[in-house]
Amino acid sequence: MNLPFLSREQLVVGVDIGSHAVKVCQLERTEKGYAVVNLGSSVLPEGAVDDGTLNDPEAVGQIISELFKNLKIKSKKVGFSISGYSVIVKKVNLSVMDDDKLEEHIMAEAEQYIPFDIEDVYLDFQDLKTNTAESDRTDVMLVAAKKEIVDGYLEMLESLDLQPVLVDVDGFALENTYEYNYPKNENVALVDIGASKMNINILTGGVSVVARDIVVGSRQLTDQIQNAFDLGYEEAEALKLGFTPAAEKQAQIEAIFTSTCTQWVLEIKKAIDLYHSNHPDEPLTKLVLSGGGSKVVGLTDFLASETSLPVVLFNPFENMVINSKKIDTEYLKSVGPEMAIATGIAIRPSVI
Ligand SMILES: Nc1ncnc2c1ncn2[C@@H]1O[C@H](COP(=O)(O)OP(=O)(O)OP(=O)(O)O)[C@@H](O)[C@H]1O
Ligand SMILES: [Mg+2]
Repeated sequence: MNLPFLSREQLVVGVDIGSHAVKVCQLERTEKGYAVVNLGSSVLPEGAVDDGTLNDPEAVGQIISELFKNLKIKSKKVGFSISGYSVIVKKVNLSVMDDDKLEEHIMAEAEQYIPFDIEDVYLDFQDLKTNTAESDRTDVMLVAAKKEIVDGYLEMLESLDLQPVLVDVDGFALENTYEYNYPKNENVALVDIGASKMNINILTGGVSVVARDIVVGSRQLTDQIQNAFDLGYEEAEALKLGFTPAAEKQAQIEAIFTSTCTQWVLEIKKAIDLYHSNHPDEPLTKLVLSGGGSKVVGLTDFLASETSLPVVLFNPFENMVINSKKIDTEYLKSVGPEMAIATGIAIRPSVI
């Protein structure tokens, strides 16, 4: 018997190209849910990717092909995701129309909604079908991504003999993996703190109502440690991660952590306040942190005390099948927060 939902080929390999590291995740569908087939990550050369732009496609390509080789991934179909200034996600409220009419309307009116020349972007949309018996208006999610940026990723991946078949958006991928692993009916803020950006996505009943990218992240800590002690990038990164003892630098490093985390928390609180002012009857129930920056020691407690909300670290493998003979569960636990976006992409079927 050939059950389509048991076919591994249906899912893409998720490739999350961050500014610090590339994360790769391959899943398969089983009767018990998604199973982790393969995963890994590799640090990129400094500056190779910046604010969602591939500055050095050759170096990034080399890292990705080595990662695929080391992980022995044979599948060619990959999905990647974009973020930063090159992508605009916007919700617009329109009269209910069938899909053809909606497409026509969006193509004609898109420039009203997005600050880019329509010729320069790939446009996509989804009717969220929020119309009710009382209202014939519906919310439509618009995504506009700069062709130049997306084409850069496509060319780089194709040059590695891979087939990029899916383009996701970081915030959507995060939402996707959250919904698979956790109950849908809560009001939660998903916060991914990477090396150079923080993505905030607030969901109520499974619908995204606040979504933003802010240019802060764990790289700020490295930069400040570099400046404070006149160090190179590698040395500062090792100090930040506690790989080298801070010794007499301890107090100054702590001050850097405190001021930067305070800034992150302020940004998160701003998004929460915006949410609460628009949804006074649906208070947030928790904050879910992901990305490497979420591992800053003490951040979850600090955020919990500042927001009076429970704060948890995102475990994208919470509901997944793990073969502990093949995959080290301790490793999974430690890389979970960084892998959230890659797993969200890897859940997508290769043919939609
Ligand atoms: N324990 C830790 N404390 C502080 N920072 C950490 C810790 N562990 C990892 N990081 C930092 O997290 C960052 C990597 O996280 P992640 O892989 O989520 O970033 P990225 O996806 O490459 O970046 P971005 O999404 O911002 O482009 C690095 O800056 C790394 O130093
Ligand atoms: Mg990232």
